[in-house]
Amino acid sequence: MEQKLIEIRDNAREELCGIKEKEGLASFKVKYLGKQGLLTSVLRGMRDISPEDRPKIGMLVNEIRDEIESKINLKEKEFDNVELLKELENTAIDITEPGKAHEKGGLHPLSQVYDLLIDSCVNMGFKVVDGPEVELDYYNFEALNIPKNHPSRDMQDTFFVSENILLRSQTSSVQARSMQTMKPPFKIISPGRVYRNDSDATHSPVFHQMEGLVIDENISMADLKSMLTILMRKTFGEATQIRFRPSFFPFTEPSVEVDVTCPNCKGEGCRICKGTGFMELLGAGIVNPKVLEINGIDSKKYRGFAFGFGVDRVAMVKNEIGDIRSMFRNDIRFLKQMK
Ligand code: DAH
Repeated sequence: MEQKLIEIRDNAREELCGIKEKEGLASFKVKYLGKQGLLTSVLRGMRDISPEDRPKIGMLVNEIRDEIESKINLKEKEFDNVELLKELENTAIDITEPGKAHEKGGLHPLSQVYDLLIDSCVNMGFKVVDGPEVELDYYNFEALNIPKNHPSRDMQDTFFVSENILLRSQTSSVQARSMQTMKPPFKIISPGRVYRNDSDATHSPVFHQMEGLVIDENISMADLKSMLTILMRKTFGEATQIRFRPSFFPFTEPSVEVDVTCPNCKGEGCRICKGTGFMELLGAGIVNPKVLEINGIDSKKYRGFAFGFGVDRVAMVKNEIGDIRSMFRNDIRFLKQMK
């Protein structure tokens, strides 16, 4: 019996050395230690052994079983380690590889200009007021002293939803709304989208304006001029000059067209300003007393000045954009240049 056990042990040792994979280890375990295993069947034969020899043989069986078990465990760990190493190698992170940078977005050129204009005005005490883009004919035209069939409607041909509802053609509509709802004195600006039946390199059916309105006692052209000088200097630089030219708008009297030193050539004369050194940028004037009265403001007590300009124009000049429509196409290559 003892001899047989020693033989089993030696065979097991030899066999174990030859095992190169985890699967082999499992069947080896079954072969020696399983229910039908070699060592177990020896144990079953114990009852044939004389009682004196039993402890000795028992001890030997235990020793061999312990040895085989601990060797299996050891080998198993070895295999596990090899596997782990392989896996680590396969999934290793190359810490020397250059990282992927997250691209930062940027503000649209229009948002940049709006931010600049709005900040400057808010610093001068203006309140920002919003108005609807789908507007009543009344606020867009009639309350601004532009009755039906007035010739100045020609220049602001827009899109009509019905006879009396349209897409606003100017942010001046917010002037009328503000006069009817706010108590003077007040100072408001109204940035926003406007629409006209126009489309070429310098006109888009949708574009952007910013309107300004100040209502107070003793308002004069000097207030308008100083305020616009400050705003334009903040927008285009401290050396900027403005000049007034007589003009006509039904809602202001007198009305002016405001020119600003060409931001491109600083007044020298260039291609963009067609050699004049100036660029036409705003419409403005003293609010027509008729408009004050239409909108419920006492024209004997109060006066006002107003101005309005195309924000797209400012963004185009500042960024040397040739075609207004490129600002609305959302071409990422164009927008990237504007950051
Ligand atoms: N609303 C005018 C336009 O779209 C611009 C304008 C002119 C606004 C004179 C004003 C103003 O407030 O006083 O052409």
